[in-house]
Amino acid sequence: MTRWTQDQWTLRMATTSYTVAIEPGGRWAELVAWGPHGVEVGPSPLQNRGDIHFITEADAAPIEYAPRGERPFTGADLEIDGDSWLTFESGAEADGVLRLSFVDEVAGLRVVLCYRPEAAVDVLSRWVEVTNLRDEPLRLARIGSAGVCLPVREPRLSFLHGEWAREFQLDHVSLPAGGFRISSSYGVPGHNHAPWLSVDDTWGVSLAWSGSWEITAEVEPSGLTRVRAGMLGPVVVGPGETFVTPELALAYSTDDLSRVWHAYDRLRSRPARKPVLYNSWEATGFEVDLPKQLELARIAADLGVELFVVDDGWFVGRHDDTGGLGDWYPESPDFGAFVEEVRSSGLEFGLWVEPESVSPKSRLYAEHPDWVYKMDGREPTLIRNQMLLNLGLPEVYEFVTSTLDRLLTEHRISYLKWDMNRPATERSGELDDAHVRNYWRVLEHLRSQHPHVLVEGCAGGGGRTDLATTGMVDVVWPSDNTAPLDRLKIQQGFLHMHAPHLMSSWVTDAPGFFDARPRSLKFRFVLAMAGVLGIGADVRHWSAEERSEAAALIARYKDIRDVVHGGEVRLLNDAVQYSAQDQVVVLAWNTGSLTGVPMVPGQSSRVRLRDLTAESYVDEDGQVYSAAHLTHVGVPFDWTASNDADVVVLRPA
Ligand code: GLA
Repeated sequence: MTRWTQDQWTLRMATTSYTVAIEPGGRWAELVAWGPHGVEVGPSPLQNRGDIHFITEADAAPIEYAPRGERPFTGADLEIDGDSWLTFESGAEADGVLRLSFVDEVAGLRVVLCYRPEAAVDVLSRWVEVTNLRDEPLRLARIGSAGVCLPVREPRLSFLHGEWAREFQLDHVSLPAGGFRISSSYGVPGHNHAPWLSVDDTWGVSLAWSGSWEITAEVEPSGLTRVRAGMLGPVVVGPGETFVTPELALAYSTDDLSRVWHAYDRLRSRPARKPVLYNSWEATGFEVDLPKQLELARIAADLGVELFVVDDGWFVGRHDDTGGLGDWYPESPDFGAFVEEVRSSGLEFGLWVEPESVSPKSRLYAEHPDWVYKMDGREPTLIRNQMLLNLGLPEVYEFVTSTLDRLLTEHRISYLKWDMNRPATERSGELDDAHVRNYWRVLEHLRSQHPHVLVEGCAGGGGRTDLATTGMVDVVWPSDNTAPLDRLKIQQGFLHMHAPHLMSSWVTDAPGFFDARPRSLKFRFVLAMAGVLGIGADVRHWSAEERSEAAALIARYKDIRDVVHGGEVRLLNDAVQYSAQDQVVVLAWNTGSLTGVPMVPGQSSRVRLRDLTAESYVDEDGQVYSAAHLTHVGVPFDWTASNDADVVVLRPA
């Protein structure tokens, strides 16, 4: 970090920099420049060059953080009970964090803007610490993590939206004026919008918060676009206490923002090899009959699967979705022996849990009716026939932690799928805050106490895939929709926000959910190979030919897994390119019409590659291509009804 003048700082990331300054009156911090290294040398593109009419100076400034009062017309980042104006106190850098401190003596609060630049990637994390200087509680109705002004008059916003089973639909909107808002009040980031936004494919934000949130973008009267993000309040801060907001990650790229987010994910993930898994949920549902599970496990092992996961339905009282949650004891007395038998067939063992949930019929609820979210004198709201535990309570945190400790020590479990199948109701911003922070604590506990256990994050599919969660789990389940063409769209959207090593994907027998067009086994495999491969089909019914095709594809996946999980990604049209030093892997799918070749004349379909560093490449059949050919003409694919997806591996020739 370089301090240029007394009140200006340039934060350096891998190839980009972010320069903030205190405005001459000491009233706020403002953005001077954000872009490739050196962009700060020259007049700021954000500075107001005109007279100000009918708004305040703050409304026209590229302000970094504003309480309501100080910036009355263009949206505040912080709202207390009454208005607030801040005055700069000091700026200091320590331990890689720049802290700019402001105080409002009248309203009784201190606000510290915190900035942590990442040296290895082009991401800057921002958050705010608010201290209550009053001798009574301070209520924060809105508590943003950060705001940032961009020099864009008519932004093109890219965002991910959807619903359960249709998450991560990538969409774009141009905003000539006015505002745009995405949010969740579900107590989890939710299926409807991901807490992620990009502007002109150049600037991006992603919020590290696993509860309710909002992100807005507004075209301001001065012509700047201001993006704001934060958790949903209100929260109450006790006298003398400090509230720390979630972090907002800010990314910049002149090339491809998804690559910056992928690099950031890789930085935040612990190194772990992701086994090829089998999950029996789609095959057997709630009927977890151990001999049948063992049959599935043995077939899976023969196919080359490395991990067998028993999903919902293994515990007492769980015959359907009306009971059992909370009573985390195996239904069968033979469960322990079953786990060992699965392991003796050469597979690791994984288990599904939903630690935050409780069924009304459970013993846990009978014993602790006061542990769930509900209003005094009213029945709690049920969704999927279940309630949520108030994880913010110390006794619930203890229960969840000790339950997981018990399961993980009683059985040799190396994989935990942590699900959460309903949104929160009867939960204020404050309860949300306490719940989320204890959810993180449990995840941290799992990492420190059971480091060999991989954790899959899931919330009815992709309801909780925020940056905080992905930093603490090993993989996430993006959607319950495993139907091939739907899944392809979901995955391509997901990969704009997160890296492939986090993306769990299964080969299933699922018919189309929204798009019912069937696809070959190979298509379904190549699709699941785009991230962390799993099988969810009822393999007992696969023919000998299907099993041998599956075994070959699993073996092929193991060969390319390191490149898929660690390579640089290009999201292409119906294809993904993964590039590593000595290998380029291309996965491609045909979703369009067929040309009729070879029955009639026609040419191959092509996928044009990017970023090739060698002069020429050779594929596994010995075909040599120049980099120019691959870049400008493309890799050829001859699609037919049965050959509707493929894997191509290229090595420098
Ligand atoms: C959620 C998950 C599924 C499965 C079921 C079990 O919907 O997303 O993968 O685990 O719960 O009830």
